[in-house]
Amino acid sequence: MKVAVLGTGYVGLSTGICLAEIGHNVICIDIDERKINTLKEGKSPIYEPGLEELLIKNSSAGRLTFTTSHQYALNHADIIIIAVGTPQSDDGQADLSFLERAAKDLAENIVRDSIVVVKSTVPVGTNEYLKQLLLGQLKNKVEIKMVSNPEFLRQGSAIQDTLKADRIIIGSDDAGASEIIQEMYRPLNVPFLLTDVRSAEMIKYASNAFLATKISFINGIANLCEAVGADVEDVAKGMGYDKRIGSAFLKAGIGYGGSCFPKDVKALLHTSKEQGIPFSLLEETIAINDHQQELLVGKALKRLGELKGKKIAMLGLSFKPETDDMRDAPSIKIAHALTAGGAEVTAYDPVASGNARKVIGEVITYVDSAFEAAKGADALFIVTEWEEFRQLEFEALLDVMKQRIIFDGRNCLDEAALQECSPIEYYPVGRPAV
Ligand code: UGA
Repeated sequence: MKVAVLGTGYVGLSTGICLAEIGHNVICIDIDERKINTLKEGKSPIYEPGLEELLIKNSSAGRLTFTTSHQYALNHADIIIIAVGTPQSDDGQADLSFLERAAKDLAENIVRDSIVVVKSTVPVGTNEYLKQLLLGQLKNKVEIKMVSNPEFLRQGSAIQDTLKADRIIIGSDDAGASEIIQEMYRPLNVPFLLTDVRSAEMIKYASNAFLATKISFINGIANLCEAVGADVEDVAKGMGYDKRIGSAFLKAGIGYGGSCFPKDVKALLHTSKEQGIPFSLLEETIAINDHQQELLVGKALKRLGELKGKKIAMLGLSFKPETDDMRDAPSIKIAHALTAGGAEVTAYDPVASGNARKVIGEVITYVDSAFEAAKGADALFIVTEWEEFRQLEFEALLDVMKQRIIFDGRNCLDEAALQECSPIEYYPVGRPAV
């Protein structure tokens, strides 16, 4: 099939590359010329494991091309996938301006009957709004069918999540269009749910909000565990054996971040308020999440007496491992809270320091290794659970610190190995300190 993908962010790029990988002819469009040139050279503009290999493979095979020209791309495509961002606006609503711009560009350049597939995360009703927008501006007399096809890939495992998805949701009021999109994905051999447009839009928000709530729930339990002397890791394990609960997304820590959960929970809450349907569970999800980051800093303050003049090493900056993405990363709040308290913060992240500089700024110092960060530190904070940190020689690392104190915001270090590094003070989340 001939497919055009509009937007080469995480979702657009992964989708385009994977559709090429299963044999389709894909043209990816972006208004950012620099990005398109990078992609044409076979380089990925984002850090995503496995993506560059498939990019090179499918580009060389001639199934994957990149352009800034809507006219060129839409001349070739029967299916147009919109995968532009829907960031959060100041009032918590999803900002649809990139989508509106995409609709305008499509309307001006579509020359044949097309199926327009919306992959961007959009509030219920947006597909209908976009269709009206498109129809109202169409330059040529063509027929447009809309399909809502939300995306469930995670950063850091985008390719695997796309090629081995748990499900594919296809929402359309046109049975023929649904069938064609199902056909497009058929080689992936994953379960399909065909539904109406509004339900498809809601499935995306409901899924993300549920996962975020699961994380806040276990974080709430973690805080209780600390108070009563239980171990949240065992509690989560014990809960997870129950198939109705499941073990995924029960990892306690400093809360969720990233470009999706924070904004999607807020957008769903906004919809509930707009509709006059109370959904205060979502407010709690957000409140607990924000609190987790404050708690970690609070623990350090309690242990160190004061933050003023203390040197803190932060290991990890990205919102999760295997990505350089800093959007809504818990590290941002933690870094600012520590420096506001007068601490001197030195941070190391395997890939995210460049992006962190743009977001956190120069209030903290960025270094090139965990050891450099730890030198002379009064305490070490684990903020992102990079595998590299688990493998550190802790005996040697503790030796370069001023005080042998670790706050593990992700419960990711091997407690048994740390115990051998005596003396040590190790404070995980929701478990007894060592
Ligand atoms: C999330 C969803 O998992 C994807 O299904 C969805 O497609 C995507 O949002 C999106 O809407 O585009 P992502 O933001 O890439 O994916 O990352 P996750 O792996 O879900 O992690 C989100 C945050 O939750 C991270 O900060 C992570 O550290 C945190 N988390 C995750 C926990 O604190 N505990 C857990 O048990 C799991």
